[in-house]
Amino acid sequence: MQMTINGTAHQIEAEADTPLLWVLRDHVGLTGTKYGCGIAQCGACTVHIDGLAARACQVPVGTLEGADVVTIEGLAAPETLHPVQEAWIETQVAQCGYCQSGQIMQAAALLADDPNPSDETIDAVMSGNLCRCGTYVRIRAAIRLAQAKMGA
Ligand code: FES
Ligand code: FES
Repeated sequence: MQMTINGTAHQIEAEADTPLLWVLRDHVGLTGTKYGCGIAQCGACTVHIDGLAARACQVPVGTLEGADVVTIEGLAAPETLHPVQEAWIETQVAQCGYCQSGQIMQAAALLADDPNPSDETIDAVMSGNLCRCGTYVRIRAAIRLAQAKMGA
């Protein structure tokens, strides 16, 4: 399969039913995307596929011919941070950190789709990304800060 990952073309040699998550971590060496549940329930594996948030543990790589995949490693341009990442640092969202790349990717996709989301929309979109450390209040604050940074 030919696809773009973080702006670079990749030829992936894998069984068509291999989950994208394993391809990213084991074939391409991008380990920022995490394995949590493997059944689309936790959001730790969230990446962007053609600009939309997706659960990499549930996407067979065979469906991604020609796709544009972005992971946490490629969210910002090299040497810079995405406004969501800046907001995450300034708000000190992370506790153990395990869920956070998925949280950031989900939040970035949310703000790309809806630059001024309601609290209800934030809760609805982000509720699928679980955090065992309970950082939800700081996640919402960071999304609001990122929104301000992005000029919404
Ligand atoms: S590892 Fe993919 S949703 Fe949990
Ligand atoms: S920061 Fe620990 S699971 Fe979310």
